[in-house]
This record gives sequence, structure tokens and C-alpha cells, in this order.
Amino acid sequence: MQDFIYQNPVKILFGHDQIPALAQEVPQDKKVMIVYGGGSVIKHGILQRVKGSLKNTLVFEFGGVEPNPHYETLMKAVEIVKAEKIDFLLAVGGGSVIDGTKFIAAAALYENDPWEIITSYGSVVKQALPFGCVLTLAATGSEMNNTAVINRATTQDKLFFASPCVMPQFSVLEPEITYTLPERQTANGVVDAFVHILEQYITYPVNAKVQDRLAEGLLNTLKEEGPTALKNPQDYDARANIMWAATMALNGMLSAGVPTDWASHLIGQEITALYGIDHARTLAIVMPALWRYCKNEKSEKLAQYGARVWNIPESDTEKMADEAINATVDFFEQLGVKTRLSDYDLGDEAIAEVIRKLKEHGHIALGEHGKITAREAEALLKMAL
Ligand code: NZQ
Ligand code: ZN
Repeated sequence: MQDFIYQNPVKILFGHDQIPALAQEVPQDKKVMIVYGGGSVIKHGILQRVKGSLKNTLVFEFGGVEPNPHYETLMKAVEIVKAEKIDFLLAVGGGSVIDGTKFIAAAALYENDPWEIITSYGSVVKQALPFGCVLTLAATGSEMNNTAVINRATTQDKLFFASPCVMPQFSVLEPEITYTLPERQTANGVVDAFVHILEQYITYPVNAKVQDRLAEGLLNTLKEEGPTALKNPQDYDARANIMWAATMALNGMLSAGVPTDWASHLIGQEITALYGIDHARTLAIVMPALWRYCKNEKSEKLAQYGARVWNIPESDTEKMADEAINATVDFFEQLGVKTRLSDYDLGDEAIAEVIRKLKEHGHIALGEHGKITAREAEALLKMAL
């Protein structure tokens, strides 16, 4: 196991009817701005419940944060925060709303060009407004981590930043809120969380048994509960297990003390920015191809994963690795998430564009060994056609 420092201060309020607790969690002496997305929280009564629990608080609202939150939209929120002297934010939504809120929180207190927050990967962030979250979609783990992914729509740059200053103060996780998710978003969420675990697990062995077995437990949970939630959207236990698994998948616990990959995410982000394909779907395209391309380096962990998650019988390591990759593809497809570029009408031209953007962003030494250059990325994407 590698050395590590781990700290996660986010308070989680999990289970039935947690929204009323906002009355205690949101400081009453603050001016609060609720940030939300395209309107699902209005349609399903979540915003009303949130406002109902903040009766004694001065509340502003900012709606319209898009999936893959646009920098341009978030900057409008920053202007309002500054003008109205808002001093607490409350994100009510999925990963896009929470990520957008993290950016607003940091940009509101940043004196220079706010895009520097992104280009510096967050290193220029020294302070941010405090904020909390009400999560409506189990997927990204943003509710319990320090990362946000922001999309500058005008230039097609989708990039992440991270900072300890943008850890939520608290996150409300009510599994019942996810009953209303469209099938596509439920499936996306399971795939995104599943891939988060794999990015931190399918590398090379460092004999980190706690991290490995945590990862395998979470993967098994998503494997069992994903199809159940799709079949029966109001199965509380399935929704609860998926929600907690997705949070645990990316709250820093799994990556402490182990090598991590993240190449599928960085390549996938370019596909979303250029072609608007849902985040999880880009991962389902890239990861299997990347594994096939990097099978030699990853074969031991792939075989372990195959045995412990997909019950693949012990045999030759390479054969087990192949079967593990195939089982993963079958799982994504079973959830309705397609795994080839051609399924989304993308071909060689798209690959060339993705490579151009990866170069522009300097993302040309990816993966746990830093060996995925632009040339490797191109070759592996061709395997995803
Ligand atoms: O916008 P509204 O109307 O609210 O509708 C949303 C949106 O259309 C809808 N939705 C959310 N909760 C709902 C609901 N519909 C019905 N009932 C509910 N309870 O779902 C749609 C997608 O929402 P979005 O927030 O975009 O999805 P997700 O949570 O998957 O977030 C994706 C974003 O998170 C980033 C991705 O890159 C992407 O931009 N990620 C953030 C990470 C992080 N901060 O650590 C890590 C991830 O790898 C990921 O990259
Ligand atoms: Zn992701």
C-alpha cells in the first residue's frame, strides 16, 4: 500500500425525509442562494420542500444550470452572488448542479479571471463560499468530494478543478428523491459510479486489501442493484444502496494508498464537450477500449475483478482479463448504455477532434503510468469504433 493522507469533512444526512433538517444545517443568519438545474426539482416538488424547510432564512434562487454545467451560465450566478452579497449556497440537483455550485462558490471570492480556477486545476482557489447539497441523482460523488467539472460551451472546453475549499458542508441524501429519474439517468448514474470505482481499482496490484475489497463490495452492489432500480424505480433499498455506493465510490476513500488511472474520464470529457454525449456514456465507450489496449499492464487486476465481481473461474490471467472486459461491456449494454463510438454516430473524424482537444489541454500523459500519449489515445479510440 502506498502512503496517504485522507480527510473528508462532509456531513451526510441519509435516508427518509431528511430535507426538514436543512432548517438546522443552513445557517439562519446567512443570505442563501438555492442553485438548481432545468426544472426537475420544481416538477417533482423538491424545491418546494427545500424552501419549506428554510422559512426563517432569506433565500434567493438561481435555476437553469445545464447538464455539464456551462461556465457562461455559472458566471451569471456569480454576478448575482456578488451583487446581493449572498454568503451561503445550496445546490439542489445532480452532479452538474453541485459542480456548478462549487464553481460559483470559488469564483465569487476570486479576484482575477475566474477561468484561471479551471486552468490552474483549482490551485489558485484559496477560499470559497460555504455551501450544502440536496442530491437528486446518484452518480458523480460530487456531494462528498472536492472536485467539479465545468464546461465552457463557447470553446468546447470541459475541464475539472479540485480544491479543499469546495468540499460541501453537508449533503442531504434521500434515496426516494431518485424515484423520478428517467431510465437513462438511472443507468448513467450506475455506470458513472461503477467506472469511478474501476478508475481507482483496475491499475496494478499494491496489496491494498482494504481498498480492493471495498471496491469489489461497491461494484457488486451496483451490479446487483442497478438492474433492480431500472426494473422497479421505487425500490427503496435498491435506490439507497445505489446512492450510498455512488457517494462512497468517489469520496476519496478508494483512491487513498493506491495508483489511479482516470484516463477514461479525461478522454471522455472531450467527447462530451465536442458532441454532447452524456458523461457516463463516454466512459462506457472509452474504458473497455482502454482496457483492451492496456491489457498487459492491467491483466492482474482485471483477472482479480473478473473472479470477485463476475465469478469468472480461475484460469489463465489473460483469458480471465478478456472475460472480465466482456462481462463489463455486457453489463453496460444490459443497462441500456451503448459502448461503441459508432452507436453514437461518431467515427474517425470525431477521434481526430478528440485528440486535437487532448493535445490542446495538455492531457497527453494519461493513466496510472502516464503512458497514454495522444498517439495511444488515438489507437485505443479506434478500438472503440
Ligand atoms: O436539470 P434538471 O431539470 O434538474 O434535470 C436533470 C438533468 O437533466 C435530471 N435529474 C436530476 N435529478 C433528477 C432528474 N430528473 C428527474 N428526477 C430527479 N431526481 O438528470 C439530468 C442529468 O443531471 P446531471 O446533474 O447532469 O447528471 P449527473 O449527476 O450524472 O452529473 C453529471 C455531471 O457531473 C460531472 C460530469 O462530468 C457531468 O458534468 N462529474 C462530476 C464529478 C465530480 N464532481 O466529482 C465526477 C464525475 O466523474 C463527473 O465527471
Ligand atoms: Zn464520472
